[in-house]
Amino acid sequence: MKSFLKLLSRYLDQKSCPQALDWDNIQGLSTDQLALYENLYAPASVEKSLKKLAVLKLNGGLGSTMGIHGAKSALEVTKGITFLDMTIQQIRHVNLSYNVDVPLIFMTSSNTYDDTLRITKKYTNQPVRITLFNQSRYPQVTEGTYHPCPKSADDPRMWYPPGHGDLFTALNHSGVLDSLLSDGKEYLFVSNSDNLGATIDPKILQHMIDNNSEFVIEVTDKTTKDDIGGAIVNYEGTVRLVELDQVPPEHAEDFKSAKQFKSFNTNNLWIDLKAIKRAMSIGELELDIIEKIIPTDNDRRIQLETAAASAVKHFDRPKVINVPRERFLPVKTCSDLLLIKSDVYQVKNGHLVPNYNRTFQSTPAIKLSEQFRNIDDFQRRFKTVPNIADLDLLTVTGDVYFGRSVTLRGTIIIAASEGKRIDIPDGCVLENTLLTGSLDM
Ligand code: UTP
Repeated sequence: MKSFLKLLSRYLDQKSCPQALDWDNIQGLSTDQLALYENLYAPASVEKSLKKLAVLKLNGGLGSTMGIHGAKSALEVTKGITFLDMTIQQIRHVNLSYNVDVPLIFMTSSNTYDDTLRITKKYTNQPVRITLFNQSRYPQVTEGTYHPCPKSADDPRMWYPPGHGDLFTALNHSGVLDSLLSDGKEYLFVSNSDNLGATIDPKILQHMIDNNSEFVIEVTDKTTKDDIGGAIVNYEGTVRLVELDQVPPEHAEDFKSAKQFKSFNTNNLWIDLKAIKRAMSIGELELDIIEKIIPTDNDRRIQLETAAASAVKHFDRPKVINVPRERFLPVKTCSDLLLIKSDVYQVKNGHLVPNYNRTFQSTPAIKLSEQFRNIDDFQRRFKTVPNIADLDLLTVTGDVYFGRSVTLRGTIIIAASEGKRIDIPDGCVLENTLLTGSLDM
C-alpha cells in the first residue's frame, strides 16, 4: 500500500508539474557504455561465477495482447512442454553440466501464481531449486478524481500487477532478496518468461564482473519486423531507458526509426544483488512512471506501471551489450507463438535451436490476421501447427482455418474476403501461393 501511494503521489506531482525529457539531450551510447557481444571473451572457468548467480523470470504479466487468462509461460511450446518447463530444463542443464546450484526464481502475480505452481511443483526433486514469489497488486484509479476503483479486495478487473519494475520492491518485500544474499548469491539474471532466448551466458556475466558493473542491459538491433521497444540511450551522460510515451510527439517517428536508435531493450538484465539491497535500503526506487489509460463504458481508469530497465539510473557503472537476435525471442502475439512452436526451431536441453535444414537463413516473417489475435482463436484455427521449415513469409488476412499437417513453403499469402472463409484442408502443401476470396479446397 505504501509503495502504491508513493507511486500515485509521484504521478500526481508530475501531472501538476510535467518534466518532459529534453529531446536534444538524448544521445547514442558512448563506446564506454556499449559493448558488442562478439567482442566479449569466453572465460577459462565459469563455475566460480555461476556459483554466485541466480536467475529470475518475470512471470507476472497479464498477456492481455493475446487474451490470456493465466500465465503466458504455461502455454505449450511443444508436446506437453511449456515455456516454464523449458526454462527449468535450461537451468537444470547448466547445474548438471557445471556442477553448480543456480536457483531459479519466478516473480508471479495473482493472475499467474496458480499456473506457475502447478507446473513447477513437478520439479520438486530435480537438481534445480525453484522459488515463487508474488509481486504487488495495485488498484486502478479513476481519471480525474484519482480515487481507487475496486470496491473489494477481490475484484480482479480493477487490480493489476504494476509492471515488471515492481521487481525491486517485490523481491525485497518477499524476503527473497535477503535469502539470496545470505546464500552467497551476488548476481541476478532477469528476463521475460516468454523469452526462451534469454539463457545464462557466461561471457555476459564475465563482462559484468570485469567491469564491476551493477547493472547490465542487453539490447539487440531493430529489424523491419520490429514494432517498438524502449531504447537504451545516453541521457546527459548516464544510461537511461526511454520509452515511446516519454518522447515528445513531434519526435516519435525519429524515435521509432532504426536510423537514430538502432537497437532496443530486450529486458534481459544482469543486476548486482548487493546493489539492489543498497538501493532499496534508501527507499523505493523512483522509476519512470508509465500511465496506461483503460477506457470503460462509464469512465476512464488509470493503471500506473513501471519498467525494470528504468532502474538503471540508480546503479553504478551500468553497461549495455548489443547481443545477437537469438537472445531475444519474445512471444507478444500469436504470430510469434506460431513461430516458436514450429519446426523452424528444435528443442535441445530446454533451448530453442534453429533447424539447420531450413532453406532460408532468417526466420520467416509471419503476420496472422486479427481473427488469430486471442489464444483461443489461434488454437481453434490451427488443428496442428503447420510445417514451416521452408517458409519465408506468411500473411493471413480474414477468416482462415488450417487443417492437420499442412505444409507451407516460400511465400504464402492467404486473404479471405469479408464475410467469407478459407479452409486449408488436412495434409495440404502450399508453395509460393496466393489464395484470395473464399475457398473450400
Ligand atoms: P509485457 O509488459 O510485455 O507484458 O511483459 P505481457 O504480460 O507479456 O503481455 P501484454 O502486454 O499484457 O500483452 C514482459 C514480461 O514481464 C512480465 C511478463 O510476464 C513478461 O514476462 N511482467 C509484466 C511481470 O512480471 N509483471 C508485470 O506487472 C508485467
